[in-house]
Amino acid sequence: MHRLVYFSNVSLDLNLFAIEAMVEQAAEKNRPLQISGALHYNGLNFLHVLEGPHQTLTPLYLRIRKDPRHSGVVKLSHERISTRSYPDWGMRLFCGAPKCVAASGEKAPREGDLPAMIDAFFGFGQATASTEP
Ligand SMILES: Cc1cc2nc3c(=O)[nH]c(=O)nc-3n(C[C@H](O)[C@H](O)[C@H](O)COP(=O)(O)O)c2cc1C
Repeated sequence: MHRLVYFSNVSLDLNLFAIEAMVEQAAEKNRPLQISGALHYNGLNFLHVLEGPHQTLTPLYLRIRKDPRHSGVVKLSHERISTRSYPDWGMRLFCGAPKCVAASGEKAPREGDLPAMIDAFFGFGQATASTEP
């Protein structure tokens, strides 16, 4: 089992509705491949955690990298893991952008080190996004 985390810049013409639709489609495709994970979105960037078997994870990442809906894809880590941090979902969106925090009040899970680390990381993104006009 492997975990891959990457960071990218969201394409300017991609709105929240399109992102939600993309994640729904991704979740359906990921489940049979035993890929789970979370897509964190702060209004400007994606931080995507993908977990699953190496033989399906790597080809998926190579496909995602070429997707024009984001750019500047940087792989932050790729490691072997024994336990998934996101065991239950094919893919789930966590939106930290002010517009969806206000709409849903949803928060990323607090248990485990990885979600907490991502919360802290995207706290910085929220501060940046909220200074936008
Ligand atoms: C930020 C981002 C995350 C994505 N995550 C996934 C994913 O987890 N699973 C997936 O199948 N496609 C994901 N996609 C879509 C893929 O890039 C690609 O469009 C999709 O796999 C369909 O590929 P295909 O047309 O070759 O079947 C993502 C795209 C972006 C921009």
